[in-house]
Amino acid sequence: METHLHALVFLLTVILLSVSCARGKQYISAVGDPGMRRDGLRVAFEAWNFCNEVGQEAPGMGSPRAADCFDLSSSTLKHKVTEADNKLGVGKPFPGLPPGAISNADLYAAQKELYLGSLCEVEDKPNPWQFWMVMLKNGNYDTKSGLCPQNGKKVPPFSPGRFPCFGDGCMNQPILYHQPTELINGDTLRGSFNGTYDLGAEIGGGLGGISFYEVVWEKKVGAGSWVFSHKLKTSKKYPWLMLYLRADATKGFSGGYHYDTRGMLKILPESPNFKVKVTLDVKQGGGSKSQFYLLDIGSCWKNNGDPCDGDVLTDVTRYSEMIINPATPAWCSPKGLENCPPYHITPNDTKIYRNDTANFPYGAYHYYCAPGNAQFLEKPVSTCDPYSNPQAQEIVQLLPHPIWAEYGYPTKQGDGWVGDARTWELDVGGLSSRLYFYQDPGTTPARRIWTSIDMGTEIFVSDSEEVAEWNLSNFDVILT
Ligand SMILES: *[C@@H]1O[C@H](CO)[C@@H](O)[C@H](O)[C@H]1NC(C)=O
Ligand SMILES: *[C@@H]1O[C@H](CO)[C@@H](O)[C@H](O)[C@H]1NC(C)=O
Ligand SMILES: *[C@@H]1O[C@H](CO)[C@@H](O)[C@H](O)[C@H]1NC(C)=O
Ligand SMILES: *[C@@H]1O[C@H](CO)[C@@H](O)[C@H](O)[C@H]1NC(C)=O
Repeated sequence: METHLHALVFLLTVILLSVSCARGKQYISAVGDPGMRRDGLRVAFEAWNFCNEVGQEAPGMGSPRAADCFDLSSSTLKHKVTEADNKLGVGKPFPGLPPGAISNADLYAAQKELYLGSLCEVEDKPNPWQFWMVMLKNGNYDTKSGLCPQNGKKVPPFSPGRFPCFGDGCMNQPILYHQPTELINGDTLRGSFNGTYDLGAEIGGGLGGISFYEVVWEKKVGAGSWVFSHKLKTSKKYPWLMLYLRADATKGFSGGYHYDTRGMLKILPESPNFKVKVTLDVKQGGGSKSQFYLLDIGSCWKNNGDPCDGDVLTDVTRYSEMIINPATPAWCSPKGLENCPPYHITPNDTKIYRNDTANFPYGAYHYYCAPGNAQFLEKPVSTCDPYSNPQAQEIVQLLPHPIWAEYGYPTKQGDGWVGDARTWELDVGGLSSRLYFYQDPGTTPARRIWTSIDMGTEIFVSDSEEVAEWNLSNFDVILT
């Protein structure tokens, strides 16, 4: 009897939790909270230095990992993460922390993410899930610090000049303020993370001259989607900043990580069988260098097609991004073939080589760069920055263009940009199945399983103080 009851409860759970209804049609969502509609929110925060590590904690802030997770019942919020948990930093033990990680800021942060994940975890089928992830990254690199490896290889310090850095401490972690989610006027839930990289700055005294980031989440109880409202501001000392909302894998290596992560993707989407739905309202663009990613998908596989295993010398992070800032030019051109992938594949699976100037869609590609550890690259080629990830990376950056129409992507400059708020239903799986990614000749094509789907902006080295502001809601990953 009890077994039958369990089976019945299990069956009901499967039906209720993994199948949601959209316009009367049933579909399976890959994310824990399809469409961001669950009142009991799960959101976390992480900050990265240039090579996606911590390096050193900011004074008094603890390890730059935090979370806001709660359940709502009869108008009461039951928070699952305390402010003491959020302030945990090197030297302070917590359940599950391996002894070797207690005094190493990088290892500690990775373990803290797992710990916060254990507090936030929601049981679900086929897998439990933990949280949406707010990711903040500082693009300063102190080349004299020797902190970042080169394509995964440890290298000695080198002369400055190539990367922004104002001097000692330019790779610091930010100040983080957390407003825990609260119920306002009995019907609205709201909370936030904000702060600055400028240690010692008073953000209450105005933002002139300093960097700033903020994510506010808000929702009407029992109705609609959470709205995540983002703001990112650069400054002279911090001219290159990134802020994303990520749906990461609930275990394994998410895009850009080389250690176990926690996240929202209870099922990992695989090309070509998934779509992404999201509402984006860009209020301020962040200047001409703001590479606003309508979507950034990230994964990891080796050049021989094998899945990554944490060996940073052979693992390669793979990214593809659609940049919707109309100020972003196509560096890929008949005269700049090194910035184009070797070929483009049309929806009807025709290959067009980049030297086919009559047919190659140059305007559809901002920039392509190949993994720095690939051995059989087609020349001319541009290799990706070897320092900004823990391992080699490959990046395919797209621009709005008519050839993407088939996949529901932006087809012209300005689509989805300031004043053109939209709900997108992007055939990310279809498009990503036809993008060029490098592989060693004669090897079995990698399975394109995406461990991160992110949205937000990367304000690239800017001369002036730039501000980007946008709202994101209704995020879903739909398996097709
Ligand atoms: C940052 O968040 C805090 C609450 O945690 C709030 O009091 C403050 O006004 C925010 N700062 C700015 C500049 O918005
Ligand atoms: C964006 O989010 C902010 C904060 O939740 C909200 O005040 C604002 O009305 C939102 N804007 C739109 C257009 O939804
Ligand atoms: C495939 O599409 C291209 C244009 O995108 C077109 O020129 C070509 O004729 C098509 N080929 C087939 C076999 O349909
Ligand atoms: C164009 O590139 C392809 C692939 O690299 C090559 O096989 C072909 O010979 C090139 N065509 C011309 C006209 O250079």
